[in-house]
Amino acid sequence: MIAAAPLSLKALESNEADLALFAYDDAVLTGVKALPNPVKAALNAKLKDEGFKGGAKEVARVELDVFGRTRRVFVAGLGKKKGADSEAFRRAAGTLLGAVRAKRAALAVLCSENVLAVAEGLALASYKYEEYKKGDTDTLQALNLVFSDAASKSSVEKACAQAALRAEAVFLARDLVNRAPSDKTPNSLAQLAESFKGSGVSVEVIGPKKAAELGMGAFLGVARGSAQPPAMVHLVYKPKAATKKRVALVGKGITFDSGGLSLKPAASMEDMKCDMAGAASVLAVFKIIARLKPAVEVHGIVAAAYNMPGPDAYKPGDVLKAMNGKTIEVWNTDAEGRLVLADALCLAVKQEPEAIVDMATLTGAVVVALGSKVAGIMGNDRRLIAQVSAAGARADEPCCELPLVEDYKENIKGNIAELLNISKVRGEAGAIIGGLFLQEFVGDVPWAHLDIAGTAFSGSDWASYSPKGATGAPVRTLIEWLESL
Ligand code: BES
Ligand code: MN
Ligand code: ZN
Repeated sequence: MIAAAPLSLKALESNEADLALFAYDDAVLTGVKALPNPVKAALNAKLKDEGFKGGAKEVARVELDVFGRTRRVFVAGLGKKKGADSEAFRRAAGTLLGAVRAKRAALAVLCSENVLAVAEGLALASYKYEEYKKGDTDTLQALNLVFSDAASKSSVEKACAQAALRAEAVFLARDLVNRAPSDKTPNSLAQLAESFKGSGVSVEVIGPKKAAELGMGAFLGVARGSAQPPAMVHLVYKPKAATKKRVALVGKGITFDSGGLSLKPAASMEDMKCDMAGAASVLAVFKIIARLKPAVEVHGIVAAAYNMPGPDAYKPGDVLKAMNGKTIEVWNTDAEGRLVLADALCLAVKQEPEAIVDMATLTGAVVVALGSKVAGIMGNDRRLIAQVSAAGARADEPCCELPLVEDYKENIKGNIAELLNISKVRGEAGAIIGGLFLQEFVGDVPWAHLDIAGTAFSGSDWASYSPKGATGAPVRTLIEWLESL
């Protein structure tokens, strides 16, 4: 990871770093208080010469005498000032990093607003997935965010530290989701979880035997088609100061979704290594949770299993019984996420939390409804939905609520069992049906469900700070939410 470190304006004066700034539409520079007036004037003249407009994705490169030497100055566009929110700064920072990482040695960024978003954009953009092949080498040795006075010093320091921590979590989620499906068995995810033990974190791995004792028939049913055993992983973080407040994060961890006997067509299967993105986001949070130090007890539950059509695979028509005793008629083995989550949610309820948030690449329907930039959120508690949505908005990982329409419950009533795992009415409200099914397993506990099937993985570059493949969503939302408790 390339993460920005704080640097004083004084120290900048005596080093040789290139400079970077941001500018709105019409090349209106921002955060330039630190620059002497003549330098500003010269910079404006050069930007005009270059025809720089300050549009999003635009980067100008000029040479200028600043602080005693001739320096490269990069100016990244933010687009219209009116719409330039934290996401505009994060994206401009990402574009900036992309422009310099393999060319320049040292970059000092001058910026006085949205500093955290800038630090995040720089760090997040430095991601490369290198578990199987190395990418181009970076030349950038030093990356700094410049502060010019005591007041900005502490905010810049805080932003740099926070951004590096968040990026560390996001990078783990991205690495796990990008990893080849055969290389991320449920057991390997359980082992990774075990490696987070210590400083407030404890981990229990529930293997097939224990899962059977606990009555996790839905979870075990899905896993039956794979030679690899499933793992239900239960992580617990306890803060130093005792607290009665307890929340649970639950992640869908289908390490590959072939569809099972209701086999997916080849094209729909291509990216199904991403089907453990919910679980990856839980693991990512737990990697850093001892340093994040939320004030509440946090339970993480990862339901990890392959969905495969092996010899003993569960079959359409099978009836599974979840941990809370509810029976489920399986009409389609490709609606497996809700089945593993059923038992994971029951386990979460057992911890008596004040709130449960689950993350799942649950339905293709949510991709149709909201695309790759907005997650679906559903739940049984207005306050929690508002809290998580607000956290998503702060993180610039927007989510949009879909209603859990009571009338649609009729469509998942079983013929020979209590529930169906798909709707009797084909092709309608798929994401909502998924949410309604999950609701059957949370009892009265306040619960929110994030359907991240569209946002967690992208077949093309997602933004300047998030290359093709895993995005790391919704890790930043979860961090924001935990920090707000
Ligand atoms: N893992 C898929 C959902 C998915 C789709 C994730 C696209 C990421 C991108 C899920 O298990 C699935 O197969 N859902 C089915 C449900 C259907 C059978 C009711 C779907 O959406 O088609
Ligand atoms: Mn599926
Ligand atoms: Zn799935």
